[in-house]
Amino acid sequence: MEKLDVLVVGSGGREHALVKAIKKSPLCGNLVCAPGNGGIALDCKTCPVSAEDIPGLVGLAESGNGGGRFSLVVCGPEVPLSLGLADELRSRGIPVYGPSKNGAVLEASKAFSKNFLKKYGIPTAVGENFTDSSLAEEYIRKAPFDVVIKASGLAAGKGVVIPENKDEAVEAACDMLENGMFGDSGREIVVEEKMEGEEASIMLVVCGRNYVMLPPSQDHKRVGDGDMGPNTGGMGAYAPAAVATEEVLKLVRERIVEPTLEGLEKEGIDYRGTLYVGIMITKDGPKVVEFNVRFGDPECQVLMPLIKSDVLELLYGVANGGFNPDEVRISEGYAAIVVVCAEGYPGKYRKGDEIFLPKGDYSEKWVVHAGTKSSPDGKILTNGGRVLGMVGLGGRLEEALENAYSLAGEVKFDGAFFRKDIGYRELRRESLRK
Ligand code: AMP
Ligand code: GLY
Repeated sequence: MEKLDVLVVGSGGREHALVKAIKKSPLCGNLVCAPGNGGIALDCKTCPVSAEDIPGLVGLAESGNGGGRFSLVVCGPEVPLSLGLADELRSRGIPVYGPSKNGAVLEASKAFSKNFLKKYGIPTAVGENFTDSSLAEEYIRKAPFDVVIKASGLAAGKGVVIPENKDEAVEAACDMLENGMFGDSGREIVVEEKMEGEEASIMLVVCGRNYVMLPPSQDHKRVGDGDMGPNTGGMGAYAPAAVATEEVLKLVRERIVEPTLEGLEKEGIDYRGTLYVGIMITKDGPKVVEFNVRFGDPECQVLMPLIKSDVLELLYGVANGGFNPDEVRISEGYAAIVVVCAEGYPGKYRKGDEIFLPKGDYSEKWVVHAGTKSSPDGKILTNGGRVLGMVGLGGRLEEALENAYSLAGEVKFDGAFFRKDIGYRELRRESLRK
């Protein structure tokens, strides 16, 4: 097979992990990331086109940055997909990994997802969509369960409020519907039953009705140890997550994945890309918390190192409408990531501090950059709340976590902090089993 020139879109840790995995492929020709970050620039060429500049990205994909057009575009984040990047590229004959706009709506509209889940009988929280605050209030007051309130549109992971009581729920609904909290994204809301259980992330690589389920992972969304403090984009993750047992995964396939892919087909959506199913493992079995239309961040960073087969071949196969799920091979071991953040995150955080990375040759290690940039004099500076992700691998989860923590301990920059208890639920379960 000829070498493939690949454009990766995005600038976070997820995209750095994708770049690292794609670069390992013998099929990889030119590799460019737009816009990239300070660490991605150490691994491949970067191009300063924003991930939300659709005409700019289409122009770049066609011109090949001076070479021929790209053979494949891999889109990391959800926003370009919901703006129609994949549609624009496909209409020009450029293969793209990531769903078209009509598939991206699964993430861009929680109201659409709620209707979709109901229509196809897929287990999820009981709930309704509202644009009118008095109807929302009536529903909240009458509901025989505690509720959560969700802005329907994209809100960078911040659009969910878990109220303490019904008054707070009504207030949150009004804030979104009437007071413009979350802007247009909150003009429609979903009010649904608060589910109890443990969460896991199920990442599927989907091409129509064909799919491969990657190992289940678990994110840690709260900023503080013991799951305390405000929500973040994700402070750490590990895979495989044993809480999603074989039995749970069987139910996920039968009750969630297969009806979802059938539903997408019935809706005329030719889905090609990642489908991220956030599940709650409740006493009644796994239920859908959310759909995302891209890899999780930081989940992607622990999944990429666990894929033993060629990641580029997989993404290219999906983009072109033909891939063989049986060819995807997964390593036996574990991967864990500890995200090193800048002081203040997830609130207003420090920026521009010089980063001192672990000494020695770590090119083979998965030191993943998220919020970094390079300075003109060649230094790497902090440039985001989640700055770096340190990935550890191992035959056991404990070993993977030790390796991740040993790397995290070696990173130095002013104001650096990270959670000290990634994987704690699983380690606690393991110690109970012993
Ligand atoms: P989402 O953006 O829908 O993933 O929601 C963000 C987080 O809010 C999830 O990861 C859950 O921790 C929590 N959440 C969302 N929906 C529910 C629900 N119905 N019940 C309990 N927690 C929820
Ligand atoms: N880690 C959660 C997400 O990517 O949405």
